[in-house]
Amino acid sequence: MPETKIQKQNSDQKSDKAVQELIKALNEDLAREYQAIIAYTVYSNVLNIAGELKLHAAQELQHAMIIADQIDYLGGMPTATPKEVKLSEKPEEMLRFDLDNETVTIKNYRERLKQAEALGHYALSEQLRTIIMQEQEHQHDLATALGIDVPRVLGQGA
Ligand SMILES: [Fe+2]
Ligand SMILES: [Fe+2]
Repeated sequence: MPETKIQKQNSDQKSDKAVQELIKALNEDLAREYQAIIAYTVYSNVLNIAGELKLHAAQELQHAMIIADQIDYLGGMPTATPKEVKLSEKPEEMLRFDLDNETVTIKNYRERLKQAEALGHYALSEQLRTIIMQEQEHQHDLATALGIDVPRVLGQGA
């Protein structure tokens, strides 16, 4: 049966709402990227794995650029506000903050990937896949520096 005008309107409204939700969520992701840029910039001056952290900072900036471009493409306005950056006198605590943030970031990007695919935004999902690969490397580097196992994101239902 062909779609009626009302049905078409309803499904257009539904996907419009889904796009708005995606934009909102991507802005949260962008705020987390800003947070990561700031954290790695500061931490790389106080921790003994400075080289690695500087590389992370540069990659987080690339992620922020990509996410901001995608928000713009979807018709949204990229946020200018980072999530709060925690500081500590203890180097180990700083690494821990970073590791926890990376874990939260990966969980969120996995969710975003599903949203993007559901809406047929395959360029975005492709970009997200590349970002997730790098976030997993960050997570791995931090866990290694802390001498612990990588947190199991998948096991937590993300
Ligand atoms: Fe990132
Ligand atoms: Fe990261």
